[in-house]
Amino acid sequence: MCGIFGYIGSKDPLTVCLKGLEQLEYRGYDSTGIAGVIAGKIASYKEAGKISLLKQKINLRSLELAIGHTRWATHGKVSQENAHPHVDASQSIALVHNGIIENYSSLRDGLKRQGVLFASETDSEVIVQLVSSFYRGDLCKAVQQTLPLLHGAFAIALIHKDHPDQILVAARESPLAIGFDDEHTESIVSSDPNAFLGRAFNVLFLHDDEIACVQKGRVHLFDQKLVPIAKKIERFETDYQTPSKEGFEHFMLKEIYEQPKTIQNAMFGRADPNFEKFGFSEEEIKSFKNVWILGCGTSAHAGSIGAMYFEDLAKLPASCDIASEARYRDPILGPDTLVIGISQSGETADTLAAIREAKKQGCKILGICNVLHSTLTREATGSIFLKAGPEISVCSTKAFSSQLVVLNLLALHFAHVRGCLAPGEADSYLAELKKIPEQIQEVMQQAPTLQKLAKKYAHYHDFFFMGRRYMFRAAQEAALKLKEISYVNANGYPAGELKHGPLALVNPQLPIVAFCSNMKTQEKILSNLMEVKARGGPILAFAPKQLKEVAAVADDVVWLPSTLDELAPFASTIAGQLLAYFIAKEKGCDIDQPRNLAKSVTVE
Ligand code: G6P
Repeated sequence: MCGIFGYIGSKDPLTVCLKGLEQLEYRGYDSTGIAGVIAGKIASYKEAGKISLLKQKINLRSLELAIGHTRWATHGKVSQENAHPHVDASQSIALVHNGIIENYSSLRDGLKRQGVLFASETDSEVIVQLVSSFYRGDLCKAVQQTLPLLHGAFAIALIHKDHPDQILVAARESPLAIGFDDEHTESIVSSDPNAFLGRAFNVLFLHDDEIACVQKGRVHLFDQKLVPIAKKIERFETDYQTPSKEGFEHFMLKEIYEQPKTIQNAMFGRADPNFEKFGFSEEEIKSFKNVWILGCGTSAHAGSIGAMYFEDLAKLPASCDIASEARYRDPILGPDTLVIGISQSGETADTLAAIREAKKQGCKILGICNVLHSTLTREATGSIFLKAGPEISVCSTKAFSSQLVVLNLLALHFAHVRGCLAPGEADSYLAELKKIPEQIQEVMQQAPTLQKLAKKYAHYHDFFFMGRRYMFRAAQEAALKLKEISYVNANGYPAGELKHGPLALVNPQLPIVAFCSNMKTQEKILSNLMEVKARGGPILAFAPKQLKEVAAVADDVVWLPSTLDELAPFASTIAGQLLAYFIAKEKGCDIDQPRNLAKSVTVE
């Protein structure tokens, strides 16, 4: 799982490649490298570390073209040897790869028997060694012979020392975009067209097992048999801005504080029962008998809350599944199931695989996404954008609240179209929703309190988060934030399940973080708190102002604005984001790029 980038053209390939890789760092940041051709030889440099380190150290001048890579390790530890580009044993070909070659072990054994020496532990190296074994002067032909031997997913870019005028690329189940300018002076290949650095480009995307020979401002495309093919070319104008923390210490904190604005952006043109156009007619909306939401990580948590919105507001059976599980299930699906793929990046491999399975079964797909031109939006029947702006911190914050807004308003629209709303109901609901940005400001004013609490709680090794209904999902999301950036064990659980196991864990060393803002179950959560208290567990509660009884039970309370149960996840999860942030800061963790994680998980 990684980002690949390549450049051939009139500008300095190294400079362009480094900038491109910076845009792809969300796909992994444990090691990085660049290769090119200088005077008939492959030159490459790689580092175990982030691109900032590569930038300081790399010293490759006058490259004729360049390919680069930013890695999230799958096969082989994080080390310089395992970083890409990988070069074949004859030092003639360099390769960068995104994906996983599932049969790499048998391919590697076969090559070793032929005497090929391997320099890394990666699955990727077998590709370059195979291409090298087939090479007889035609790189395209050698790539074509290699592809059928590979099982798994890949996007690859290769260069050869004797062909400094071309980058060869191929893909299967992994995105690969090729862009070239109108003047035919430069070409870029990238895992993501948003890394094209703010220039207007003609762009095409490779489909499975297609091969492209990319030259300065020109692309020659071939199918699996090397028959030339033509393809739709799209015009892309990417909006490139160097990400800035704008005075905040971390991107995560900046993104938390952006939420009053990003929530408003997500509401814009949608805070109306009529919603905006998103690719589905009213007849289609009426025809759906159920909704199935798919996502991973934070997006799946938003999806779980979204499923409740569809049931509570639109009276439509709805469920949310973790995409990595859903893709191997055999659910009963058909055209009357609306499948919603939800993903900040639109590139998460499991989410994409799950929606493709649903598509095969005749379902229409609605993509909810933050990134324009992403794979999810290209493959979905219709799309809704979050308009949250780039989210840089690996730990998702503002995308989550925007996802909640969109799902909420979409469910309200479905309720309207399906005639489930009483007169005036939509207006009073929307009036409450529009208060959310202001209520979040109130939560942010409590940052000093949350920072103090973080100091008090940061030394614990385990946390137990709980809540009921909407607050169960909020508890799961808040627990995930803490795990991701503080490296402490935090479980998010439905409070009603406490007696069925977790109560055995309760002791003075296990803080219970209770989310109490679901008013429909207020008495139940108060009983749960009493049960914890009776067994000596420290309690940190997040509670709405009107639930004064919490003060008598909890050790600490963060008071939150009162709102409808459906809308309570906003304030609760944002308070949870701040708590996680301050605990991570207290522990000195790498907040924006936590160890072992990536912003976008592009392999299974
Ligand atoms: C990774 C990120 C998470 C994110 C998840 C799903 O695990 O670290 O922050 O929630 O992927 O990403 P997506 O782009 O599909 O929302």
